[in-house]
Amino acid sequence: MRTLPSFSSKAFFAPMAGVSDPALRLICKELGAGLVVTEFTNIHAIIARDKTGDIQEFIEFSDQERPLSVQLFGSDLDALRKAIKIVEPYFEIIDYNMGCPAPHITEQMACSALLQHPDLTRQIFRTMVAATDKPVTVKIRAGVDKPDKYLEIGKIAEEEGITMITLHPRTVKQGYAGKADWSLIKKLKQEVAIPICGNGDVRTPEDAKKMLDETGCDYVMIGRAAAQDPYLFAKINHYLDKGHYFEISPRKRLDLFFRYLEYTAKYPTIKPANLRMQAMNFSKGLPGSKELRGRLLNAKDRDAMRETMRWFYDSFKD
Ligand SMILES: Cc1cc2nc3c(=O)[nH]c(=O)nc-3n(C[C@H](O)[C@H](O)[C@H](O)COP(=O)(O)O)c2cc1C
Repeated sequence: MRTLPSFSSKAFFAPMAGVSDPALRLICKELGAGLVVTEFTNIHAIIARDKTGDIQEFIEFSDQERPLSVQLFGSDLDALRKAIKIVEPYFEIIDYNMGCPAPHITEQMACSALLQHPDLTRQIFRTMVAATDKPVTVKIRAGVDKPDKYLEIGKIAEEEGITMITLHPRTVKQGYAGKADWSLIKKLKQEVAIPICGNGDVRTPEDAKKMLDETGCDYVMIGRAAAQDPYLFAKINHYLDKGHYFEISPRKRLDLFFRYLEYTAKYPTIKPANLRMQAMNFSKGLPGSKELRGRLLNAKDRDAMRETMRWFYDSFKD
């Protein structure tokens, strides 16, 4: 029986393509995330890249992020086996994406399309577990049109030696609309014996505690709210431990942008568009963020963005 590494917190940072880059993951880690996961990566791209270059330049990460999970997608069993062999030396956990609803991905019989194919899913889990000694985890949605697939897939995962299931309890049809139905996390936890990570619509420390208490899940995974305020991890940890937490001043939150700029400098794949998006995320909801948005759209490079954020930062008192 494989076990998960030990985590410093029950609150994990969700994989988000185009968002959870190594710089933001490191900030989340420093602020208390128990686990961070790479953006989803195509198994065929890993194999192609391995032939021509260094895989660590393709999937960027730093040792300070550990324990670190790499998320894969793609359903060709041979390619899956090969891709796992390539990435496994670098990561503590191999995660498998069965949640992405984007049509250009599901058309390739990958990600959430697999929820409708339990036999192939079983073969995929079996292949993955046989290909590595590292824990293999899976991230799923509730179903395609209806929330009717997660229990079947969850049981297959347990039978095939998957070490943890993360459930985002929305259907594929829902995309990100409507509400995540946390009662499905509770149901899954009752039906399978492996660790369950609940995900979806956790925005505050109170939400995190409520999800843990109401569903019995072992961990909570947070995406969008943590990308806007990575201090959420520090607040959650404090709240779970002491029953209260401290608000973070706008300046403290905005300071994270300058840390983000510093960390991104060593990752060539992080482009000005990513910096702009992150600047908008860190300032979301603050007074004046609308004007800032306009200014950021005109800021074309790192220096211009730093200057624009400095102007915004200076508009707040400590
Ligand atoms: C922009 C964006 C990109 C995402 N990319 C991934 C991904 O690469 N892999 C994955 O498993 N989920 C991905 N997700 C889903 C999130 O991991 C998470 O399940 C979802 O956002 C719900 O959690 P939240 O309410 O805390 O944001 C993505 C979500 C967003 C908004």
